Amino acid sequence: MTYSVAVSGASGYAGGEILRLLADHPEFEVRTVTAHSNAGQSLVSVQPHLRSFTHLTLRETNAETLAGHDIVFLALPHGASGAIAAELSQDTLVIDCGADHRLESADDWSAFYGGDHHGAWAYGVPELPRLSGTQRERLTGARRIAAPGCNASTVALSLAPGIRAGVIEDRDLVAVLAVGPSGAGKSLKTNLLASEILGSANPYAVGGSHRHIPEIGQALRWAGAATPTISFTPVLVPMSRGILATSTARIMPGTDAATVRAAWEDAYAGERFVQLLPEGQFPRTADVLGANTALMGLAVDEAAGRVVVIAAVDNLVKGTAGAAIQSANIALGLAESTGLPMNGVAP
Ligand SMILES: NC(=O)c1ccc[n+]([C@@H]2O[C@H](COP(=O)([O-])OP(=O)(O)OC[C@H]3O[C@@H](n4cnc5c(N)ncnc54)[C@H](OP(=O)(O)O)[C@@H]3O)[C@@H](O)[C@H]2O)c1
Repeated sequence: MTYSVAVSGASGYAGGEILRLLADHPEFEVRTVTAHSNAGQSLVSVQPHLRSFTHLTLRETNAETLAGHDIVFLALPHGASGAIAAELSQDTLVIDCGADHRLESADDWSAFYGGDHHGAWAYGVPELPRLSGTQRERLTGARRIAAPGCNASTVALSLAPGIRAGVIEDRDLVAVLAVGPSGAGKSLKTNLLASEILGSANPYAVGGSHRHIPEIGQALRWAGAATPTISFTPVLVPMSRGILATSTARIMPGTDAATVRAAWEDAYAGERFVQLLPEGQFPRTADVLGANTALMGLAVDEAAGRVVVIAAVDNLVKGTAGAAIQSANIALGLAESTGLPMNGVAP
């Protein structure tokens, strides 16, 4: 069967990456692409790398244009998708790549985003360990899916195995991330100009203000954390895409290094797209560029009493578009990896 697909926000980074991946999906056919200020332009005039879609023109983003498709991907700024999604048929599979449907807590939503809270949809990180099973089970048959924040899912995948196994404490979690500026989207911002970023590493949202913090806490509570606290610091570095997240946590007293490592090995043993590297190996962002793969390395720092987990993810693939398509595959009962690249682009 061929599913008809509409992609909104198709002129942006996330929408563009969804389209790049969908071009190789054997069951999904992109019929409609929409945008905002670029509506009326040909898709390739703003996404010149998407040569297989030269026949598509960007249309206005509204419920009327998006209606009538089997699948709708929303890749819009947060706050823009809630109202549009509410007008789409319940039979349509809708995947929101924005934040509008990620958070269960209305208080968290108003503290970190503000405006109307549209409620939470099934969270699109299939491999995420939960107290019982994984997030995958909640995606089967879903018709509304919230694709994750790229930093949030990277850190949640890094820490959830240890929380679920009870080998790390849920307080005093620390994550410091090197992130590429494509994570902030394509629209012009002074702090993202090449002249501000090239040759410099720039911290931002320091001191507990980053919007992905409540999303990480929510995911860790699903894994069994009671009251997780995390210090989260992203640092913009001069690479167009990619996240290298270093997450650390206090090891439960009396837990040996082998038991700690076993928690992550157990969580990801059967996973294709989330892989724990052998002891002593750590990933680089270059290893996952273009791939729907999260690579992790783990070390136990005995002197500090902490586990150190380093994860590399392509923010636009496993962090967004790949997660969205993988979740859509599961929702529809297709093979989970359909159309998704496991290998990166190197060098
Ligand atoms: N970038 C990432 O790595 C990443 C990762 C995870 C999640 N996300 C999420 O994905 C969503 C899109 O992010 P992005 O990085 O692709 O941003 P982007 O590059 O700035 O693209 C935004 C898209 O939304 C359209 N748009 C802007 N304002 C709109 C409005 N008021 N109504 C309808 N459409 C509007 C833009 O159209 P025009 O260009 O035609 O104006 C463009 O197609 C965001 O919610 C973001 O949080 C992004």
